[in-house]
Amino acid sequence: MPRIDLDDQSLECPIVIGTENEKAIDISQLRSKTGYITLDDSFGNTGSCKSAITYIDGDKGVLRYRGYAIEDLAENSSFIETAYLIIYGHLPSPSEYKLFSGLLTSQEILHEGFRHHFEGFPNNAHPMAMLSAMINAMGCYQSDLYDDIDGVSHFDKSAAQLISQVRTIAAAAYKMSIGQPMIYPYPNKRYAENFLHMMFSLPNNPYEVDPDILHALTMFLILHVDHEQNCSTSTVRLVASSGANLHASCSAGVCALWGRLHGGANQAVVEMFNKIRNADYSVKEFIEKVKKKEHGAKLMGFGHRVYKNYDPRAQILQKAAHKLLDKAGKNDELLEIAQELAECALHDDYFIERKLYPNVDFYSGIILQAIGIPLNMFTVMFAIGRMPGWIAHWKEISDNPKQRIYRPRQIYTGETLRKYVPMDER
Ligand code: ACO
Repeated sequence: MPRIDLDDQSLECPIVIGTENEKAIDISQLRSKTGYITLDDSFGNTGSCKSAITYIDGDKGVLRYRGYAIEDLAENSSFIETAYLIIYGHLPSPSEYKLFSGLLTSQEILHEGFRHHFEGFPNNAHPMAMLSAMINAMGCYQSDLYDDIDGVSHFDKSAAQLISQVRTIAAAAYKMSIGQPMIYPYPNKRYAENFLHMMFSLPNNPYEVDPDILHALTMFLILHVDHEQNCSTSTVRLVASSGANLHASCSAGVCALWGRLHGGANQAVVEMFNKIRNADYSVKEFIEKVKKKEHGAKLMGFGHRVYKNYDPRAQILQKAAHKLLDKAGKNDELLEIAQELAECALHDDYFIERKLYPNVDFYSGIILQAIGIPLNMFTVMFAIGRMPGWIAHWKEISDNPKQRIYRPRQIYTGETLRKYVPMDER
């Protein structure tokens, strides 16, 4: 057993080994036994929990949900089946699937009171702000769900409601922002198709869904379902660890996802492509700006805390983007810019030395744009896909009877004790 010797104290730290042979040193007794803490700013080297949901091998570019390869699920599963898998830990039997999808359908319509909430937002409100507010508000309409959060059926209903209504809210927020009437969900349509219907149908003009678009959207959603302890999921777990309800925890997840370094990167990537397309600068000039870190410039959609090799989701999305655009006979300028940028970066020492590869957000925006999703809704699409993952992590925290509240420590670097000086003496 590894031993840490500090001053005149000595501590034996058990080794913890995961099912995929991931190794950690358990230092949970360090402070109480020695007075020291570990310092790991931004948690680059810290395992915050044990989790049985998602496995990533960042050096080999491996991603698995509950033991199933992402490539396998993206090719063969549906979003709802994958959502069930991630939350409950196994692929649903036909009867489990029927029950789950029936529950989703029964929960898809928003309470009429939501109209008033939507009307309170300015027309140009960002849909991510609306989404997080609405998800939290959703909990107010369902107080019975929290009377006994230990009851399985309450959790099932609450989880189904979130997965179903996040899509209804997203589409409604879009419709409100463009001044069109909200379109109600259609119970016979499947998840992704129903979303497209709510986004793009008009009262007397139903949206005709293209099967290639539907396939691409379903794949996009499956690829975003979970990604272990990323920023938004860690946020959900942190909030959940205080005993907060599912809606409040997932609402916090939406806020964490919004930032440009996380889910907001999918919007930032397309903004970057657009700048190059509009000839603000060439691909080469832009890469030079990034290497010089000019005004903090980054190649958005590149790099990852865990992947030091290809992000497998980026590879799947790259192929899907080509397939979608080739089939539609579209010569997409953004895809060409993406290819040129990737080609340039992947052969450049700056990116090679730092092991920076395309991540999930590099190609996803091209697909979303081909589907017809407006730019400011890109991160909302990520949130719709990620919802089952957040729910699974909330459940993992809530099901653990030994769960303690998340509460990191710090090394204080501020002033030492000083005496208060009254205003007239300053
Ligand atoms: N462009 C240019 N340089 C980069 C990039 C990038 N996209 N990413 C990392 N680097 C550089 C850093 O500046 C740093 O350089 P240095 O050694 O000279 O200081 C080095 O690579 C190491 O990077 P870190 O910042 O330590 O990496 P970290 O793990 O903290 O950050 C992150 C990961 C946030 C994803 C980062 O790579 C990034 O900002 N990428 C662009 C934004 C993005 O695409 N985010 C989406 C991530 S996927 C997701 O969340 C869904």
